[in-house]
Amino acid sequence: MNSILITGCSSGIGLCVARGLHARGYRVFATARKPEDVARLQKEGLESLLLDLDDSASIQHAVDEILARTDGKLYALFNNGAYGQPGAVEDLSRDTLRAQFETNLFGWHELTCLVLPVMRKQGHGRIIQNSSVLGLVALKFRGAYNASKYALEGLSDTLRQELEGSNIHISLIEPGPIESRFRANGVAHFKNRIDIEHSPFREQYHKTLNRLRAEGPVVPFTLPPEAVLKKVIHALESPRPKPRYYVTFPTYLFGYLRRLLSSRALDRLLSKI
Ligand SMILES: NC(=O)c1ccc[n+]([C@@H]2O[C@H](COP(=O)([O-])OP(=O)(O)OC[C@H]3O[C@@H](n4cnc5c(N)ncnc54)[C@H](OP(=O)(O)O)[C@@H]3O)[C@@H](O)[C@H]2O)c1
Repeated sequence: MNSILITGCSSGIGLCVARGLHARGYRVFATARKPEDVARLQKEGLESLLLDLDDSASIQHAVDEILARTDGKLYALFNNGAYGQPGAVEDLSRDTLRAQFETNLFGWHELTCLVLPVMRKQGHGRIIQNSSVLGLVALKFRGAYNASKYALEGLSDTLRQELEGSNIHISLIEPGPIESRFRANGVAHFKNRIDIEHSPFREQYHKTLNRLRAEGPVVPFTLPPEAVLKKVIHALESPRPKPRYYVTFPTYLFGYLRRLLSSRALDRLLSKI
């Protein structure tokens, strides 16, 4: 039975992929950072452990525990747990930007580096990175998140070249809007971390918050998380997994347009979103 470690399984894509792969016969280690979520996942029959990407000891402990249960083997890693820190670039403190990178990049990197020796030893492995369309193009007020996903793309492109011939495959998944708790979690980070009242964008921030309160986060072309699960399955089971998987129409559109348009023309288009 192929085993897979997944981060961020409390909700959204991680939860859907954990359930989907479990049903498909994988041995899924569905990790989450809160004990109550681990208990909930265990209750529904998943093998679940604590893993907080902001905490090196927690990452090491989860990997040790999983390897102890699998006789030192792990078929795949799905790096998924992350959050989006909204706010204009000039409103991001050093701590806020660092926190975004701690979770979305440094934790993923640390976990990947713990798993790679295991994969090298067993002679095969799959690493799947849940990036974003915002790893391909940038949107206003998403600077911290854009930067973390651009950095992930760069690190993964390098690692793919370094892993050539190792029989360890690394794939990036680039979803556009997916149904999950991502936007709700982002609003909480926005309120906690951004000094709204002293920002030059104060009015825009209030308008956006009011709109979200009134309409909820309605984003066109949103797909359910099963759309990501489909690509994860291909990356796990294809003899030749792809370096990149696009998910949702906006990713196909902007993946194409960023090659076609000048930076100025692309900016004009993106700033309308
Ligand atoms: N939804 C989208 O539109 C979309 C689009 C493109 C890419 N993505 C990517 O998809 C991935 C999953 O997001 P989602 O859409 O499923 O959102 P979500 O429902 O908010 O799920 C995010 C998961 O990450 C976990 N997480 C946050 N901080 C963590 C930490 N320090 N350690 C471990 N886990 C942590 C969350 O746990 P808690 O519940 O404890 O916070 C949650 O389980 C992310 O990498 C995101 O960038 C999402």
